[in-house]
Amino acid sequence: MKEMLKVNNVSKHFGGLMAIDDVSFSINEGETLGLMGPNGAGKTTLVNLITGKYITDSGSIQFLGNDITRMVPYKRCKLGISRTYQIPRPFPELTALMSVVVSVLYGKDRVNQSLDDAGYEATHYLEFCGLFSKRNVLCKDLNLYEMRGLELARALATTPKLIFVDEVMAGLNPAEAAKAVGLLERAKEHFGVTILWIEHVMAVLMKAATRVVVLHYGKKIAEGPPQEIADNPLVIESYLGSSHA
Ligand SMILES: Nc1ncnc2c1ncn2[C@@H]1O[C@H](COP(=O)(O)OP(=O)(O)O)[C@@H](O)[C@H]1O
Ligand SMILES: [Mg+2]
Repeated sequence: MKEMLKVNNVSKHFGGLMAIDDVSFSINEGETLGLMGPNGAGKTTLVNLITGKYITDSGSIQFLGNDITRMVPYKRCKLGISRTYQIPRPFPELTALMSVVVSVLYGKDRVNQSLDDAGYEATHYLEFCGLFSKRNVLCKDLNLYEMRGLELARALATTPKLIFVDEVMAGLNPAEAAKAVGLLERAKEHFGVTILWIEHVMAVLMKAATRVVVLHYGKKIAEGPPQEIADNPLVIESYLGSSHA
């Protein structure tokens, strides 16, 4: 399997808090890597370091042979990295369609692309995510499930090779969560994207992930196939406390 992303000994502190502490791992092309850990473990911070929202204090990050450690976010996007946000971040006053148009045009050399063409492309991504009928609705008027679909449509519209999906199930009811899992699996197949899937609910990743990395207090405490992770005493302890290990 070809290695796509390599994270080498990255750390990030906020004041006295080590949010990410000397973490290394890699993602291979085509896999669905699960990133797990209790609330506050550092999952989102790790994504912020890889996508460029934050810069690592030390260590390095390579993506498809490029050193992206200190690269600005839009250039990382252009190389093929995209993400969704745990807390959806829509443009409230734009329609669903226009907010996907922004993604179609973002981070690419598309200065000459007409808005009509971008709109046509954006429609395709909205439709894929089940939001065609919402295309003219203002983002602020979408419900949570629709906003999560929109996050995915926006991420896919940048034509990524690697996509980070941050707690897409949070706040969804079981039926919506099942639909969201199906949508991600279809996205993987249809667009050939590699996925890093962040979840703090273990059961979701047991089914979806090919491999799992577990963070606890900013440190990587385990890495391996889902079943091995589920049986790992350190992982169980991190979730339930030592009395359950
Ligand atoms: N911008 C920030 N400033 C200060 N502390 C932060 C910031 N972002 C995250 N943290 C802290 O870093 C730790 C890890 O947070 P986060 O990466 O969001 O965890 P997770 O996504 O695993 O729940 C938490 O203690 C959180 O409060
Ligand atoms: Mg998080």
